[in-house]
Amino acid sequence: MDGNGRWATQRGQPRAIGHVAGARAVAPITEAAARHGVQSLTLYAFSTDNWRRPSAETTTLMRLFGSYLSAETARCVATGTKLRVIGRRDRLPWPLVDRIREAEAATAAGTGLSLRIAIDYSSRDAIVRAASGEEVSPTRESFAARLGALDHAGVVPDVDLLIRTGGERRLSDFLLWECAYAELYFTPLLWPDFGPDDLTTALSDFADRERRFGALPQRAVG
Ligand code: FPP
Repeated sequence: MDGNGRWATQRGQPRAIGHVAGARAVAPITEAAARHGVQSLTLYAFSTDNWRRPSAETTTLMRLFGSYLSAETARCVATGTKLRVIGRRDRLPWPLVDRIREAEAATAAGTGLSLRIAIDYSSRDAIVRAASGEEVSPTRESFAARLGALDHAGVVPDVDLLIRTGGERRLSDFLLWECAYAELYFTPLLWPDFGPDDLTTALSDFADRERRFGALPQRAVG
């Protein structure tokens, strides 16, 4: 979800205003994803490395995440969206941890879109923690389950499509295990400007990709 800072700077505003605009852009995208039949959506809101930002900015972001959860939990319940927050919780401010627990409990029975928000998330850290577990010979499936369990996520399905806004072309420690065969979509649009029509464009681009998972294309088989 890159580009909040630049969006604000372009308007002569402080970065925090860009994050507020970024938070406003979230609900239209989650609703549009559900309309398109997307079953699982993970938003990378705050990476573990984002703690390297000035504390004024990280504090603003933590407050925004809390406000988002307070404002959106009822809507998630109404739309059957199941909300989970993935990542470490021990460094988050306790009011935010409380809101996360409330939002997860309130939406636990949702059978629609599975919405994960990654906060203080590092895929490398998650992999290291899962790998230092007790299981001697894990399978891919048992390892994936362990990864999800340690990060509050449940099992995160393999990522089909990764969308990165703001012109960046990196994975930045996001769901590295789950992105093994992800299709990558990069857009120069800044996150606050990324709307439902842009999601439609990304999904139709994805629909045109040929996914082979290492095998031969269908037409070459037989
Ligand atoms: C990275 O772009 C964005 C972030 C570190 C924050 C993402 C947060 C939000 C979109 C707001 C709220 C989110 C939720 C889920 C409620 P940047 O701001 O560093 O952009 P820049 O590259 O232009 O500086």
